[in-house]
Amino acid sequence: MFEHLKAIPADPILGLITSHAVDPNPKKIDLGIGVYRNEQGNTPMLDCVVQAEKLMIAAQTTKSYLGPAGVTGFNASMSKLLFGADSDALQQGRVRTVQTPGGTGALRVIADLIKSARPNAELWASDPTWANHLALFPAAGVNMHSYPYFDAATSSLRFDEMMASLAQRRAGDAVLFHACCHNPCGVSPDPDQWQAIAELAAERGFTPVIDIAYMGFERGIDEDALAVRLFTERCPEVIVASSCSKNFAMYRDRVGAISIVAENSGKADDVLSVINNVTRKNYSMPPAHGPAVIDIILSSEQLTEQWISEVANMRNRINSLRSTLSQQIATNGISRDFTFLERQSGMFSFMGLTVEQVHRMRDEFSIYIVDSARVNVASFNQQNMAYFIEALATVLDE
Ligand code: LMR
Repeated sequence: MFEHLKAIPADPILGLITSHAVDPNPKKIDLGIGVYRNEQGNTPMLDCVVQAEKLMIAAQTTKSYLGPAGVTGFNASMSKLLFGADSDALQQGRVRTVQTPGGTGALRVIADLIKSARPNAELWASDPTWANHLALFPAAGVNMHSYPYFDAATSSLRFDEMMASLAQRRAGDAVLFHACCHNPCGVSPDPDQWQAIAELAAERGFTPVIDIAYMGFERGIDEDALAVRLFTERCPEVIVASSCSKNFAMYRDRVGAISIVAENSGKADDVLSVINNVTRKNYSMPPAHGPAVIDIILSSEQLTEQWISEVANMRNRINSLRSTLSQQIATNGISRDFTFLERQSGMFSFMGLTVEQVHRMRDEFSIYIVDSARVNVASFNQQNMAYFIEALATVLDE
């Protein structure tokens, strides 16, 4: 059976977790995988999650099956969070949300859904996009292409080129967007640009597929749902993959959801039946623990307020790390301009290093960065920043 199998290199992001873990250098820094870290370098549980988890366990009486949709209260709360409680599409019964094992699980279900709906559909993703998008959609048989997005020379959005490319898309094409905190480049369209993109989607008739994995980390919970809401107001069909890994800090519990907006309620039920069928064939039904905890948080006004403030704390800390890093790089004699760090948002930015420079950071300094030179800004702290800047100056020969 296995005789023709060849070993596959470790995933470009997940592989760094292991390399960093076994590195004995006490100064090592993991700037690879996207997890939030506090000043002590830990990824703590949110207080609202700790409280809700206790309530959930105290009230739990069975672990019997729930069915393909999982925790229905979670699904309803996620719909409101993403589309807005007063969303017309919600009131018209055009939205369906089903929990999935993490945001990646949602993306895989979406890939299978697209393949079922249109076996020859083409999916267009930003250049660059999350490395796992490039693996996951083709694994389900969905052909991928890219549209221009990030300008490495100016560290900003290639808005006009993106619009020119999207203007060529047509009904039946799927176009993938990052709703906020673009992974890997940290550059997002501004609200006016989102509006123009949504109008173009409606005019051209392509289907927006929105990946929202960092809701609350760019400008705020509602603010970061802008793209989802603008597309939903204008387009008859929208597909959303959401993740609760980062904004509830429930990474290992694997909580996410697929949401779809269809032309009418009957069609939404048809799509839901396909989602349930895809789910059954892949993993039967989603795990309930994480969504049951989030259901408790989002059903309680007090816990929801606490959650919003804990997300704001994480967002503010990342933004302040961005400013400090940019300023400290400049004051430490590095002439290359890194002020783009302050203009970008979320966990990620490209540092503009070559693969050789990234490998020197790893081999000579035990600083782990994805080969694309993407860093997780949330991993910096007062202890490790000076060491990072010293290493950066060395590999840049400054
Ligand atoms: C990342 O890009 O680092 C995160 O989305 C985690 C992952 O699974 O890759």
